[in-house]
Amino acid sequence: MKPFVTQLRSYLVTQLRICVVVLCCTLVFIGCAKHENEVVEKKVDTLFTPPDTSTIPHNATGDMIRYGRELLVNFPYYLGPKGSVGQYGGNGLGCQSCHLDAGTRPYGLNYFSAHARYPQYRSREGKILTLGDRVNNCVERPLNGKPMPLDSKEMVAILAYMQWLGKNVPVGGNVPGDRLKDIALLDRPADPIKGKALYDKHCMRCHGDDGQGVLKTDGIAYAYPPLWGPMSYQPGSSMHRLIKSAQFIKYNMPFDLARWDKPVLTDEEAMDVAAYVNDDKMHTRPFVDLSNEYPVQKEKPLDYYHAPYADPFSQVQHKYGPFKPIFDWRKANGQPTGY
Ligand code: HEC
Ligand code: HEC
Repeated sequence: MKPFVTQLRSYLVTQLRICVVVLCCTLVFIGCAKHENEVVEKKVDTLFTPPDTSTIPHNATGDMIRYGRELLVNFPYYLGPKGSVGQYGGNGLGCQSCHLDAGTRPYGLNYFSAHARYPQYRSREGKILTLGDRVNNCVERPLNGKPMPLDSKEMVAILAYMQWLGKNVPVGGNVPGDRLKDIALLDRPADPIKGKALYDKHCMRCHGDDGQGVLKTDGIAYAYPPLWGPMSYQPGSSMHRLIKSAQFIKYNMPFDLARWDKPVLTDEEAMDVAAYVNDDKMHTRPFVDLSNEYPVQKEKPLDYYHAPYADPFSQVQHKYGPFKPIFDWRKANGQPTGY
């Protein structure tokens, strides 16, 4: 009897063990599947979250990352016309005037994928630029200044911060929220006169009735940056292009009210106000010679306003639109359609 009972017991225990193992495996499998679904959903729904500044390491590399971030937040104090470390910027604008929240705001000209995507072919120069060259583009154009030495401590620090910020971005890749958010192109030219009325209503209280912004009392940086005039960005800056400017404005301005998920202006209003801000007849900007830009003419963006073009559309249409006919013509003729 005893051996039979022992045998039965051992048989039952084995069966039980198998059941437990099968059950566990099933649970783990269900768990995994569920987790996988969650990850997939996240990829679709969630914007890229940059690393928290509290995770910047406390070592020599971390010190450079922090310094780079500080320069990008307070550029005029270090490197503007009255900068304490060097004078490279030519006006009181800083990087943060456009690259909001130290370049971390979704759809707010952030630097999320900047490091992952350079070196990169740039059609404006017709050659491959490094990220340092690209930073200098912005020092020269929007800041109306002169290029920083690529091997300076300050440039290295700026690049170190951008690398840290984008360390979770796949090389050569993009992440949700890293670009400006698209807006609908109008069927008519954007209207600077309508834009002026919108400016007076939504923008004037900060950027001023003359668009010249408000300098801080220290006279070094702006509380509210100028939008045109001799202290503003050069023609040929990306912000001077209508569609790009409207995309930025729609999802980020008025500064205290608008965010990508709660814009204040409609697409149409953003285009009209951008047309007013960037109008060359009503407003002046620093002079710059644009004749050597875009050596390959057909690579000019749709909203690049400086002729000649490799398509039959006028300079005025490239400046104010409507852009859809240009887009369609270029597509039909195998030309780049970027803006
Ligand atoms: C007047 C607005 C303005 C200012 C000021 C400005 N930028 Fe930019 N910057 C832009 C725009 C617009 C782009 C183009 C973004 C695009 O193509 O969508 C850009 C692009 C860049 C890029 C490339 C990003 C990428 O992912 O491809 C870098 C890097 C950059 N800027 C750095 C700087 C730095 C550093 C400063 C300060 C020295 C600065 N910018 C000041 C408007 C500005
Ligand atoms: C509450 C104040 C406020 C209002 C209202 C406001 N802005 Fe701004 N704007 C800012 C600030 C501040 C910055 C710079 C961001 C920073 O320094 O962090 C800025 C930056 C900008 C820039 C990029 C920098 C530059 O000098 O070109 C543009 C373009 C711009 N605003 C356009 C507009 C337009 C168009 C409107 C109206 C639709 C508007 N803003 C309304 C405060 C404001």
